[in-house]
Amino acid sequence: MPKSREVHLTAHPDGMPTPDQFKVIETEIPDPGEDQLLIRNNYMSVDPAMRPRLSNGQQPLNVAMGGGAIGTVIASRHAGFKEGDIVQHQAGFREMYLSNGKGLHIIEPGDLPVTVFMHTLGGTGFTAWGGLLVTGALQKGEQVFVSAAAGAVGSVAIQIAKIYDCYTIGSAGSDEKCAWLRDELGVDAVINYREGNLRRDLKTAAINGIDVYFENVGGEHLDAALPRMNPLGRIPVCGMISSYNNPGARSEGVTTLSNMIYNRITMRGFVVTDFQDRRDDFERDMREWLADGRMKYRETIIEGIENAGNALIGLMQGENIGKMLVKLS
Ligand SMILES: NC(=O)c1ccc[n+]([C@@H]2O[C@H](COP(=O)([O-])OP(=O)(O)OC[C@H]3O[C@@H](n4cnc5c(N)ncnc54)[C@H](OP(=O)(O)O)[C@@H]3O)[C@@H](O)[C@H]2O)c1
Repeated sequence: MPKSREVHLTAHPDGMPTPDQFKVIETEIPDPGEDQLLIRNNYMSVDPAMRPRLSNGQQPLNVAMGGGAIGTVIASRHAGFKEGDIVQHQAGFREMYLSNGKGLHIIEPGDLPVTVFMHTLGGTGFTAWGGLLVTGALQKGEQVFVSAAAGAVGSVAIQIAKIYDCYTIGSAGSDEKCAWLRDELGVDAVINYREGNLRRDLKTAAINGIDVYFENVGGEHLDAALPRMNPLGRIPVCGMISSYNNPGARSEGVTTLSNMIYNRITMRGFVVTDFQDRRDDFERDMREWLADGRMKYRETIIEGIENAGNALIGLMQGENIGKMLVKLS
């Protein structure tokens, strides 16, 4: 029987996870039975949403951790899949996966690297597209602020805002990230929020206020953005990563909510599945922007399943530029 390895959580983290809370376990995988297929994963997706699940009870201990992956079918007795198919799934952090076909999505990458289907043309890209254009109702030429702007979702959101001829402001946690945003993505104003004073720096950058704040971070970022919002401004709330290590993902206190009143600000949360009926529109736009070079991306690739726990810790500490992935051998 082929051997596989999978990542288990051994203790529920309190605060920033630590490497000893993740363990790699060897398992034996039976050959596929009737209507089953065997997948060898190539890449696993590391996502902020995994972090709250580690402590809120959604992620049980000592089973394969939940998460998305792309893999290749290496044996199939299922009519819908053949050897060599590339499939995307949410079946967790493991090298091999014996599947009955449920929840699998066949990818036809064409000229594109398969990893693009894990970010720009995948979940994080769709999140940025839907959050900005549908929930955020972005209009051409508006003033747009994106937090965690050098991450997977943020870097797509801020480039869409550029494509819509908007004035763009991006915040990120290092000079290297800010340089990428400014010099390669053409972002108009960048803020390294770990240096200086975010509230003051945002006031300086937002010379004409903010019409849309694409919220990825919460806490201090939301506190700083609210006073800068223009009348009828929108805040699509995509995530609040600054709170994900806290019990119950409780965020820092926000003190500036009264700015919502006279400026008639709308703050609305969303999840990517809200936009399912617009998937074709998203794919059409994103394929066009990738092909004509208006959409760029970066990946941070960590090698080896034994480093998957560290990859999640690294994501929470801002070690990624663009999409954080784990490559399996
Ligand atoms: N609503 C949805 O359906 C949906 C779907 C996908 C993702 N999301 C959300 O979108 C956001 C971005 O996700 P992603 O997958 O694109 O991750 P990402 O931005 O690629 O990676 C996370 C980034 O967050 C930043 N960060 C971490 N802790 C922070 C803190 N305390 N304050 C400020 N920034 C911090 C780090 O960058 P810095 O170096 O800049 O700090 C890190 O690189 C997350 O909030 C996630 O939960 C929502």
